[in-house]
Amino acid sequence: MIPANRALPIGVFDSGLGGLTVVKEIRRRLPGEDIIYVGDTARVPYGTKSPDTIRRYALQISFFLIQRRVKAIVVACNTVSAVALRALRSLPIPVYGVIEPGARAAILGSKSLRVGVIGTPATVGSHAYKKAIQRYAPSARVWETACPLFVPLVEEGWTDHAVTRQVARDYLKPVLAHGIDALVLGCTHYPLLKDTLGAVAGARVRLIDSAEETARDVENGLRNANALNDPERAGRSQFFVTDHPASFARLGGRFLGKGLPSARRLAFENL
Ligand code: DGL
Repeated sequence: MIPANRALPIGVFDSGLGGLTVVKEIRRRLPGEDIIYVGDTARVPYGTKSPDTIRRYALQISFFLIQRRVKAIVVACNTVSAVALRALRSLPIPVYGVIEPGARAAILGSKSLRVGVIGTPATVGSHAYKKAIQRYAPSARVWETACPLFVPLVEEGWTDHAVTRQVARDYLKPVLAHGIDALVLGCTHYPLLKDTLGAVAGARVRLIDSAEETARDVENGLRNANALNDPERAGRSQFFVTDHPASFARLGGRFLGKGLPSARRLAFENL
C-alpha cells in the first residue's frame, strides 16, 4: 500500500548513471514530485553479474530508500528490472520497473511484430523482454542480443565515435538480419547511442526507449492511488552515489539533459 502522505518523494535507483534518463522523464511528466535517486556507481556494471548478486544489491538499495520514506520505488535499470523485480515486489510500497513499459512501447512501435532487443548479458539472459512482449502479443517474433561493450563506451563519452559505430554494426548484424522493424533499447545507457544505433539500423527500424513509457506508468499508478504531489510546486531531486560524487556530477548531465546538483556519497557498508 502507498503511504498516505502524497508529499513523500519517489525513490529511483540504477546501477549507476543510466537511470537518470528515467529521472528526466519523470521530472518532465511530474514536475511537482521530489525524487531521491541512488546510483550504485561503486558496483556498476550489474549487467555482467549473477542474478543473485543483482537481487542482493537491489534489495539493499530499496531498504535504504524505504528508510528515507519514499512513497514508491522506480527501478530505473533494465538489468534489475529483468532479474529482481519479483523479489522487490514483496516490499510494502509500489515498485515500478522498465521492462513492461518497454515491451508495450515495442508492440505499439512495431507493425510487423518482428522485434529486436538489445541489453546487458543479464537482461538478455533472463529473456524478460521477450516474455513480456509475447505476453502482450503472442504472435510477435523477438530476437535478443547482448551488447556488453556499449555501457563502457557510453561511460567513456564515445557516443559518436568510429569505434562505437563499428561495435554497433557487429552487435546489430544478426538481429537486423531478421528484418525487424522495432529495436528495444533494453539498457539505460543505450538512449545515448540513439544517433549511432539509428544510423546502423536504418530508417525503417524504430528505436524503442522505455523511459517515457515508464514515467507514464508511474504517473498512472500514483494518480490511481491518489498519491500525486501538487503539480504546481517545484519538485526537488537528491542524488546519492556509492563512489566518487565528482565523476557522477561530471557525466550525469549527459543523461539528465542538464547539469546536476551535487551528489552525496552513500556508504553501503555502513547500512
Ligand atoms: N543500468 C544497466 C541496465 O539498464 C546498465 C549498466 C549495468 O550493467 O549496470 O541494464
